[in-house]
Amino acid sequence: LTPDESAHWDGEALRYGPGAPRSEAPRDDELEDLFRTYYRATYNPARANMRLFRHHVPQDFQRDMPELTVLSEMATAKRKVATKEAAVVPASRSLSTLREAAVTCRACPLGELATQTVFGEGARKARLVMVGEQPGDQEDKQGHPFVGPAGQMLDRALEEAGIAREDVYITNAVKHFNYRPVGKKRLHQKPEWSHVEACRPWLRAELEAIEPEVILCLGATASQSFLGRRFTVLKNRGRVFETPWAKAFLVSYHPSAILRAPDDEAREQTYRALVDDLKVASNILAGHTPQLVAPD
Ligand code: URA
Repeated sequence: LTPDESAHWDGEALRYGPGAPRSEAPRDDELEDLFRTYYRATYNPARANMRLFRHHVPQDFQRDMPELTVLSEMATAKRKVATKEAAVVPASRSLSTLREAAVTCRACPLGELATQTVFGEGARKARLVMVGEQPGDQEDKQGHPFVGPAGQMLDRALEEAGIAREDVYITNAVKHFNYRPVGKKRLHQKPEWSHVEACRPWLRAELEAIEPEVILCLGATASQSFLGRRFTVLKNRGRVFETPWAKAFLVSYHPSAILRAPDDEAREQTYRALVDDLKVASNILAGHTPQLVAPD
């Protein structure tokens, strides 16, 4: 309403009418209440971020924004929901129960950043479990582990080693994609140690559900989630460890190390090493008894 003209939107059409004196205008706080109600109904609390809001909206405007009170209310509500939801790993060792519960995990900030939780997939009673780092861009969008370029490389190596992907269970040390937005691109970021720790209860629960005979870690992040931050793949590849999580535990290169290799020779060498390690895992399953060593 203005003193000269008014505009009315009925949800379908916009009509213009005569002006109205101030005395006929609804009181400010009535309008503001209406706006707050609208805001509460449409605002997604998962996106409430007071810090960003204050950063982006000039202070002069903030004074005149009735939704500001609602926003901070919602940010508090969001924190409460997040705390309640944080990493409640069910006691159940049913993979479907675990998978469902992991959907809302907010044990680390990646739950808010990623599109969705990418839980492990594969045979419910797989004898071999493979553990990667974290979902990549494609995995994050599709909701399945190892379906992007690294997954295709892994599929090739599995085939060459004579292992059927459907017989294996494949998961990640961290179940949400960590990335840095650069323009329209999302650049992969290695998960932080706190993310690895926050996600470990899910990984352990998966293993308790499956009880595999062999665990093969792909790359440093997965290996370190089990054996500590100082563990290196380079020094430990080729050894078969005795661990509480499976009769045999081994580590290999991550398939993305093949994709990132600086030249053809390095690419071929890394790929061969991965295939060899997969064959070692497969031979153990076929009855070959490995020489087990204790982790350092
Ligand atoms: N890299 C991983 O470690 N895991 C995936 O699921 C995909 C790429």
